[in-house]
Amino acid sequence: MKRAKISIIGAGNVGATTAHWCAAAELGDIVLLDIPELGTVPQGKSLDLSQAGPIMGFDSAIIGTSDYADTAGSDVVVVTAGIPRKPGMSRDDLLATNARIVSKVAEQIKHTSPQAIVIVVSNPLDAMVQRLWQVTGFEPRRVMGQAGVLDSARFRTFVARELGVSVEDVSAMLLGGHGDTMVPLTSCCTVGGIPVAQLIAPQRMAEIVQRTRDGGAEIVGLLKTGSAYYAPAAATAQMVEAIVRDKKRLIACAAHCDREYGVGGYFVGVPVVLGGNGVERIIEIQMTGEERAQFDKSAAAVRALVETMERLLGG
Ligand code: NAI
Ligand code: 2OP
Repeated sequence: MKRAKISIIGAGNVGATTAHWCAAAELGDIVLLDIPELGTVPQGKSLDLSQAGPIMGFDSAIIGTSDYADTAGSDVVVVTAGIPRKPGMSRDDLLATNARIVSKVAEQIKHTSPQAIVIVVSNPLDAMVQRLWQVTGFEPRRVMGQAGVLDSARFRTFVARELGVSVEDVSAMLLGGHGDTMVPLTSCCTVGGIPVAQLIAPQRMAEIVQRTRDGGAEIVGLLKTGSAYYAPAAATAQMVEAIVRDKKRLIACAAHCDREYGVGGYFVGVPVVLGGNGVERIIEIQMTGEERAQFDKSAAAVRALVETMERLLGG
């Protein structure tokens, strides 16, 4: 059977680490691309990672390049190109720079991998995925953003630590934009099937929710020179796996919502079924009144961000 071809645009921290997780799980052959100004860094990282194959037991072919011809005909493209946050910067501070970078990347993907399913990771996530979709013109089901898997994983980690239980037993769902307005759904969080409200007091839960919302900034504050990459890359690899293995995972990702949740044509974090055709379904769930109000506020923040981006790009 033919192996999937996975191209990762941006060979920095998130891109290279995504390549690592994808190779370790043997999800397919991998092309790691960065700008020519970076010299042979993608080639160096790819060769180094390939040489882990005999030790870790994977046979994925991994190449580094700055030439989009090498990515031609990709089944999945992951976009991590852009600049990350430094301390004191919000994700939105990245807007103008990364919108221009993602526009250029999208033009290339459109021509070299016209059938690809694209996962955007670059920030500010919800605007970048909208931009990539606008420029490629791909069907909405083939374009999505990674945020919900990461944000849910942060929430699950904090809940598991609080209760002293395995992270595997904590299930959670986060909706909305990948920003300060994200909506951790406490009503959907269970631990071994038990609603979390039976295990953690509301006051403490509110602190965990806030720490989750601040999860990216907490790591930026510790690293000082960039933002998180191990968990973001693992989250992205989980989405790649859902697609190349047609797993039909029910996870949160930034998907194009039109009538769904009354969003009106924007990419917002919602529960989806992710499989070989990309976003195969958007699942509309019932929220509490407060959660719904928070979701609407988050969707409004995404719309405002996209409008700012369009103004900055001049249309
Ligand atoms: P990084 O600086 O380590 O890597 C970014 C890479 O993109 C660099 O190697 C750079 O040369 C490359 N690049 C810049 N312009 C390019 C272009 N036109 N074509 C191809 N490559 C280009 O940054 P890192 O940590 O890997 O983060 C990448 C992006 O992902 C940032 O925007 C960051 O904010 C975002 N991010 C998003 C997360 C999410 O959950 N959605 C989580 C973590 C990071
Ligand atoms: C994060 O949440 C920076 O968006 C990135 O870690």
